[in-house]
Amino acid sequence: MNRPLYAIPGSTAAPAAAPAAPVNPEAPPRTVAEVLARSQVEAVFDELERDLVGLAPVKQRIRDIAALLVIDRLRLAQGLPTANPSLHMCFTGNPGTGKTTVGFRMAQILHRLGYVRQGQMVAVTRDDLVGSYIGHTGPKTKEVLKKAMGGVLFIDEAYTLYRPENERDYGQEAIEILLQVMENQRDDLVVILAGYKDRMDTFFQCNPGMSSRIAHHLDFPDYARDELLQIADRMLAPLGLAFGAGARAAFDDYLALRVQQPHFANARSVRNALDRARLRQASRLFADRERELTREDLSTLAEADIRASRVFASA
Ligand SMILES: Nc1ncnc2c1ncn2[C@@H]1O[C@H](COP(=O)(O)OP(=O)(O)OP(=O)(O)O)[C@@H](O)[C@H]1O
Ligand SMILES: [Mg+2]
Repeated sequence: MNRPLYAIPGSTAAPAAAPAAPVNPEAPPRTVAEVLARSQVEAVFDELERDLVGLAPVKQRIRDIAALLVIDRLRLAQGLPTANPSLHMCFTGNPGTGKTTVGFRMAQILHRLGYVRQGQMVAVTRDDLVGSYIGHTGPKTKEVLKKAMGGVLFIDEAYTLYRPENERDYGQEAIEILLQVMENQRDDLVVILAGYKDRMDTFFQCNPGMSSRIAHHLDFPDYARDELLQIADRMLAPLGLAFGAGARAAFDDYLALRVQQPHFANARSVRNALDRARLRQASRLFADRERELTREDLSTLAEADIRASRVFASA
């Protein structure tokens, strides 16, 4: 059967159908379709397409990595040597661009394709790895590694582990332990370093050992305004909410102002703005004690709920 390897982005094609011929689950897989069907990895791809707006290059890279693993499975089934590719990654981008979200999906994909045993993701920052006195860091880092083993260790702002200005910084100890594990146990643990691009570049320049262990660099660009609007739609839908007349345009105006302000955090700022709009919607409805509230009233963010934001006041 000639099924495409991946769902076409944006298409609403039916989810992966079972292969035409019944597959003997014991027999070694011979086709890409068999590996995909057995791993059920396509369900994660579909979710990735459905839930995440934009990020086309990131999604493509995830598929490329998956293709590599699928072909490795088929090679294994033929008794060919498999290289056990190193899959440590680096996700760079500004706050709220989807790095953590994609990290969780990546863990699922790696698990379904049999690269890691369990597929959990443990997200940490410097404080989870580095202790505050001598002898504290080793056990702390090892404890985290133990939890992450069989899955993904996601280190946010990884460059904070390296503080050259402080000669005796314990972060170096954590880096050294990580380097060892990333080399020796790379078939059972994938490390993802996340953070701002410029700081990560500096970190890699100063830590060539870390740089050489990272096989994939994924860059998460800031979202364009139309993408932020679509993200808003997708966040509202599962809450049973939608923009009412004029509200979507108002939210677009809001975004135009908000992106220029300090601490703008892409999709996270969208989520926060919608949370505040929901509060205003509730207060507006609450104020009208006697009115019978329809389903429509309860599920609509009105233009006024958006325009009451402080962002407009300061414009
Ligand atoms: N492309 C997207 N489509 C829909 N929702 C998104 C998208 N990207 C991010 N989000 C949502 O925005 C929020 C922030 O995303 P996430 O935490 O993954 O960002 P981040 O890059 O890890 O941010 P930070 O650097 O601050 O940790 C989450 O609620 C996530 O679901
Ligand atoms: Mg994050």
